[in-house]
Amino acid sequence: MRSYIPTISQLIAIPPGPVAGSRMRSVPIIEGAAIVVNDGKIEWFGKEADAPKGPFDTTIDAAGACVTPGLVDCHTHVVFAGDRAGEFVQRIGGATYAEIMQAGGGIRSSVRALRVASEDDLVAQSLPRLNRMIAGGATTIEIKSGYGLSPADELKTLRAIRRLAGMVSADLVPTFLGAHTVPPEFDGRPDDYLVAITDPALLDAIRDERLAEFADVFCERGAFTVDQSRRFLSACKSFGMTPKVHADQLTRSGATALAVELGAASADHLEFANDADIAALKASRTIPVLLPGCNFFIGGAPAPARKMLDADLPVALATDCNPGSCMIESLGMIMSIAATMLKMTPLESLVACTANAAAALRREKRIGAIAVDHDADLLILDIPRIELWPYHVGVNPVRTIVKGGVPVLTN
Ligand code: NIG
Ligand code: FE
Repeated sequence: MRSYIPTISQLIAIPPGPVAGSRMRSVPIIEGAAIVVNDGKIEWFGKEADAPKGPFDTTIDAAGACVTPGLVDCHTHVVFAGDRAGEFVQRIGGATYAEIMQAGGGIRSSVRALRVASEDDLVAQSLPRLNRMIAGGATTIEIKSGYGLSPADELKTLRAIRRLAGMVSADLVPTFLGAHTVPPEFDGRPDDYLVAITDPALLDAIRDERLAEFADVFCERGAFTVDQSRRFLSACKSFGMTPKVHADQLTRSGATALAVELGAASADHLEFANDADIAALKASRTIPVLLPGCNFFIGGAPAPARKMLDADLPVALATDCNPGSCMIESLGMIMSIAATMLKMTPLESLVACTANAAAALRREKRIGAIAVDHDADLLILDIPRIELWPYHVGVNPVRTIVKGGVPVLTN
């Protein structure tokens, strides 16, 4: 199947990631462009006048639209039960995220809700959220477990993610976040909990059923120390999972350095990362993933994005969509927040949500770019210029989503 996509006003020709900070704001934009797709891959792209000749099986007329790679949401917790709108209202009254967590709410509240939900329930509650994320332009979405925190409830979550993967048009990438917090039955005994949640029988089941590609930990005061995080991630690594770390979000714990030490695919959050952490990231392959939706949603100063970009780091962005710290499903919204709170340009944000996010999922050779032989995951946008996307806050410009060369959704 060979398709032709002509009449593109601006093709944002993002190269394969990781794209270094200084190059993110100047990726090529081809005006009057076209793309040829063959068997789900990009065969050719360039000026329409130079396009190769047919025959083509179909033509998808972009009709003056801007075209970008499909977005990659590389950090989400979108599979959960219930909601935490009550905590949102408590924060309006002055309570902080950390105080709510210490009082037994926060993640533990979502753990209570998930444990009483069946796998069917979890799938039913999460599917509409996922479909909205996809309608907003996400063609690949990472999803973490971490609200089960017992072997059975973590498996239930990971199996729900597996089922959802068969129900939606985006590719889903599962992550085992067994060390999200200490569950109530292990109160005060984090080390005992870590033994239970790295039981070889559980890690074997995750490996045998291919339920998780990555393992993640919340390394933070009130959750897990650097030593405990190292122990958890090392155990998961020996069962084939690649580490990721929730690092230096609410306080500086040294988790970014741990991520680098373990060869993690990404270090995420980084609000409290300092110059030494930036230097450590620079000397590594670990992608810094910023989640400014959290700062918008629960407050607190955002990560030092400009410093990271100036240090040439390949910064990525994600929604972190979760019921507690960021109930935001839209990467478009995150690009708007990145503009105003992180001072990232529209092009920098777009690269952060595509090529660099793909690198955070170790998929940069296949997705996140406009490159020959890359998957033809494309967005046809109802805007003639890319900066109109983050500028027009809260409005979704996605007209058509092409996934593996096939139009899967027309909004
Ligand atoms: O990325 N920081 C830890 N985990 C999530 C929040 C989870 C929750 O509050 O439910 C985060 O912010
Ligand atoms: Fe998170």
